[in-house]
Amino acid sequence: MYKFVVKGTAFSSSDSKNVTVLEDSLFCISESGRISAIISPKEKEYEFIIQEYSQKNKLQELAQGQYILPGFIDLHIHAPQWAQAGTALDLPLYEWLNTYTFPLEAKFCDLQFAEKVYSDLVSQLIKNGTTTALYFATVHRKSSLRLAEICSEKGQRGLVGKVVMDDHEQNPNYYRDATTDIALNETELFIQEVLELNQKTPQGVYPVVTPRFIPSCTDDSLKGLGTLAAKYDIHIQSHCSESDWAHSFVQNRFGKNDAFALNDFGLLTEKSIMAHCGFLSDEDMTLFAEKGTAVAHCPISNTYFGNAVTPIAKLLNEYQVEIGLGSDISGGFSPSLFDNIRQAVISSRMLEDGVDKDCCSGKRGVSGSSITLNEAFYLATAGGGESLSLPIGKLAVDYAWDIQIIDSKELPIFSENEPLMEIFQKLLYLSRPEMITEVWIQGRKVHDKTMNLQGV
Ligand code: GUN
Ligand code: FE
Repeated sequence: MYKFVVKGTAFSSSDSKNVTVLEDSLFCISESGRISAIISPKEKEYEFIIQEYSQKNKLQELAQGQYILPGFIDLHIHAPQWAQAGTALDLPLYEWLNTYTFPLEAKFCDLQFAEKVYSDLVSQLIKNGTTTALYFATVHRKSSLRLAEICSEKGQRGLVGKVVMDDHEQNPNYYRDATTDIALNETELFIQEVLELNQKTPQGVYPVVTPRFIPSCTDDSLKGLGTLAAKYDIHIQSHCSESDWAHSFVQNRFGKNDAFALNDFGLLTEKSIMAHCGFLSDEDMTLFAEKGTAVAHCPISNTYFGNAVTPIAKLLNEYQVEIGLGSDISGGFSPSLFDNIRQAVISSRMLEDGVDKDCCSGKRGVSGSSITLNEAFYLATAGGGESLSLPIGKLAVDYAWDIQIIDSKELPIFSENEPLMEIFQKLLYLSRPEMITEVWIQGRKVHDKTMNLQGV
């Protein structure tokens, strides 16, 4: 009845604050790669299923010290910027874009170069436990399509945007859409090509409408992109209220914040994911909640370009805005969502306490801002799934079997009966990518450290 069964101990968010431990459970996976049933040792069919599936050679039992986590969902990543990850972080956003990033992205008109960078990136992300990624590619349709094909081939669930930047004043001549019409036509063709590719991709690849950010787009392209997103009912992504510079640029141009300006163009929908959002006003947050638009929180990147810590606790608890976690390669240097989980907690605690010792303690920080490790884990998993409106990010019936298996033997665990929630915390704070022994996406093994298997 099931394609295979996995026996092991897993952790999964039950809500933004709580993590469920599924101890020694049986995960029964369907032909289509979804979880059909989760059976705990207390249930009467438990022993029977173990026997039946081990006889058929379709039972995988995790070794002692191995644990299952949901695969991570990277809600904001610039695929071409992988080529400069870890470098070029010495300038503020505007100078960084013009000095390093636009010249690099311009090189992706070369399909061979794109192939090399994108192939390596998708493999690295899978090894790091990222099973779904929401990508910005570049303005080039063909190499953006190549990224979607590479996700499809390597088994990763990819949501990919051909970037639109058509404003002649704001973008360099060597790197922009030639005209607004061309930007919109190429986007529509890209959407159709990726929808076609999705037909033969079990884990899913999705086209995403992608105005880079308001400063790079004309009013006409923003309007046209809103129309295209509605016509095809697809995801939308952009940058929103990131940095003092970008935030005030939009204020000067429209006399309103990014959120309301984007909404005027039909770009804030249930399927929109907006990166950063460091400067949202209370009204902006209400609008996000009303529209069902999600925030992609990129805590590492924000320490370089954000000019503020995004108030995640407020967005999550007070406004119930959907939120996930993004690496923002290469504004963030790390492809690992483990690193971003850690930074999300750290940044929130610094916002809570404040950082300037010369300020008295009562005024130094913003109380109520810190988030827990459980909440950061939620952002990287279930929160990302909800943001994308896809059945991913949780170990629950009808969710995709998108998981990573972590081997804890190199972690400082010295007691036979260490509480599982303590092990969970060690896994999140101390795991290194080499400890991820297997990664599965939609019921298919795409990484096996021992077999050196990478992207079947
Ligand atoms: N705003 C516009 N483009 C970018 C980008 O590539 N990275 C970041 N962090 N912010 C942006
Ligand atoms: Fe970004």
